[in-house]
Parts: sequence; C-alpha cells; structure tokens
Amino acid sequence: MYNHRAMNVSLPIQHNYSLRALNSFGIESTARAYLKVTATDQLETVRQDAALSTLPRLILGGGNNLLLTRDFPGLVLHLSLRGISFNGEDDDFTYVRAAAGEDWQAFVLWSLENNLAGLENLSLIPGTVGAAPVQNIGAYGAELKDVFHSLTVFDFESGKIVSFSKADCDFGYRDSIFKHALRDRFVILDVTFALPKHWQANTAYADVANELAQRKIAEPTPRDISDVIIAIRQRKLPDPAQIGNAGSFFKNPVVTTETRDALVRQHPKLVSYPHGENTHRLAAGWLIDQCGWKGKTIGNAGVYETQALVLVNRGGANGREIAELAKKIQADVTEKFGIQLEPEPVII
Ligand code: EPU
Repeated sequence: MYNHRAMNVSLPIQHNYSLRALNSFGIESTARAYLKVTATDQLETVRQDAALSTLPRLILGGGNNLLLTRDFPGLVLHLSLRGISFNGEDDDFTYVRAAAGEDWQAFVLWSLENNLAGLENLSLIPGTVGAAPVQNIGAYGAELKDVFHSLTVFDFESGKIVSFSKADCDFGYRDSIFKHALRDRFVILDVTFALPKHWQANTAYADVANELAQRKIAEPTPRDISDVIIAIRQRKLPDPAQIGNAGSFFKNPVVTTETRDALVRQHPKLVSYPHGENTHRLAAGWLIDQCGWKGKTIGNAGVYETQALVLVNRGGANGREIAELAKKIQADVTEKFGIQLEPEPVII
C-alpha cells in the first residue's frame, strides 16, 4: 500500500486487491487499484490525480448486485461513508438522510427503533444505502422510490457535489439512471428519505398477508410487517453469508397484456402481476422452474432449491461459470416461452 497525497487528503490506495470478500457471490476477482472511500474529499483527490482519474472506475457498495466475470483493470471505489441523521419534517413526512456506506438493513432497523414507518417492506434486502437507488430496490409490494426524497452525488466530470430529485433519478422497475449512462460518472454519497407520518400498512402481497394471518395479526405495526418479511425472506432466499448469491438473478420480464394472455392460454398456471397500463410482469422464477432448472448445478454454479430466480455459487465458482449457467437458463426460457430474461445484476 502507498499513500497518494494531494490537497492534504490521504488516499490509501491498494493494488492488486482481492474483491472476493466484497461481492455477495463470493467470486475471486482482483482489482488493479482499490480505495475504501471514507471521506468525500478523497473523491476530488482521485479526480485530480493524473494516474487515478484515467483508470476505469467501479463504484462498489455492498457488492450484492454484481457478477464479476474477470479481474477489474481499474480503480474500485468502495463507498464506506457512514452516518444517519434527521433532516427536518413537515405535516406529512419525516426526512432522514443516510450516508451511502450504511448497511441497508441496519438503516431499516434504525428507522423502526425511531418509530418511523415506510421502510418495513424493504427489510433484510442485502446491500448498502448508496446502492439502493441504483437498482431501485424493491420487495413485497414496495420500492425504494416510494420513500425516496433526493440524493447527493459527487460528479467526476465537474468535481461538484450535486443533488438529484426523484424525477432526476428516472426510477423504473429495478432500474435508475445510475445503472446506465451515469454509472461511472456519479458517486452516490447519501440518500434522503421521506418517511410518511400518515402510514398505511402495505400487506397486499399474498405471502405477507398469509404470514400475518397465520400469526393472527389483524392490525400490523411497521415492526410486525418487518418481522414477517424477515421470516419470509429467510425461508425463501439464501443468506449470502452462507451461500454466495446476488438475490434475483433475472428481472421479472414485462410483457404486453396480449402476450401474457396468449401465454396463459398455453400455460394456465403462469404467474404474473399487473405492471402498468396494458403490461404485466411475469414471474421469472416460475418460468425457470417450469424449464426444470430449480436445484440444478453445473460445475460450481447452481440454481437455488427454493427460488429458481436465484443463482448461487456452490463453492469456488468463477463469474464465467455463473454467466454460462445464466445463458443456458435464458436459452431454455426463450425456447419454451418465447420470453427473453434480462439479468438483474451489473455484470463486469
Ligand atoms: N415461483 C415458482 N418457482 C420458483 C420461484 C418462484 O413457481 O422457483 C413462483 C412463486 O410461487 C410465486 C411467483 O413465482 O408465485 C413469484 O415468486 P416470489 O414471490 O418469490 O417473487 P419473485 O417475483 O420471484 C420478486 C423480486 C424479489 C422480491 C420478491 C418479493 C424481482 C426480480 N424479484 O421475486 O427481489 O424479494 O419479488 O417481493 O423482482 C431481488 O431483486 O434480488 C429480490 C430477491
């Protein structure tokens, strides 16, 4: 390790740094250079450094939505900024700001401990606060954008810190502007949430309603909903600390109602949800399951036993093995249903 020093800001850059512990698939991959970002000033120092500023950049949060298929020939910026604070209130909302490096679930728990509602349906989603807007995390009938107010970024082009409103972020289903054109240019520093004071429980999702009924909870508190969702997730989804995975590997494909209806005629048990006007989202896990992939393994890469949408590292898999398995699954789903599955994680 050596220290770049410019503007009196220390940059503890590490070279040939293993990313294995920094991606939830647990895949071995080496970054040419690595910086744990603990202060915003460090980013401006990187920007002004002739050697560092020209390297390709990978902005890393918890590495929970990432498939590394090769070594990374550039600079990994590992966002480790911390801090959660109240940021005002009005009649309708309490505003809370959390730094990008805060753990998402720790932040959800902090909100519940402070009697704030609105994040409970997003309980136990692995990752960091700063990564949450990138793919507009969602689960059990809620999405990040429902509670999002604004965020601040460091702009590598101008060196300025800029605020983005909800409209600026262009949120979509598991999508935002930060997943595409702006991926390497803007570093999310912190996110401000608008948490509702007039809260209504969101229990529309069948799994949640059933679990609450089983527990005989008729009027759930935010904490009840959080507890129930944690239990459902623990049952269905592998814990990345035990089995490497990146959550859902594919998005649920969005198709026209006409396409959905045609598929239902051939496959009456097809699972789908209304998405927008004249569109439906198909349950990709069901499609993959129907192709016989659930629980299958090729080499060190596998399809999880209780949720076919989740690809797992059975131990020692490399990213190419996971990507190959994904391709085979995509080909089978296309052949059987005529549907193209799109990967959810960022693939490097
Ligand atoms: N299904 C099967 N077989 C499977 C998997 C699913 O038949 O192997 C069926 C289920 O029985 C169910 C339907 O497909 O009827 C949907 O399954 P599930 O409720 O598990 O939800 P999902 O649509 O597969 C989405 C999100 C998850 C989120 C859950 C709950 C996407 C890509 N995934 O999964 O998000 O937790 O809903 O809201 O939208 C993630 O993004 O990483 C993630 C885990």
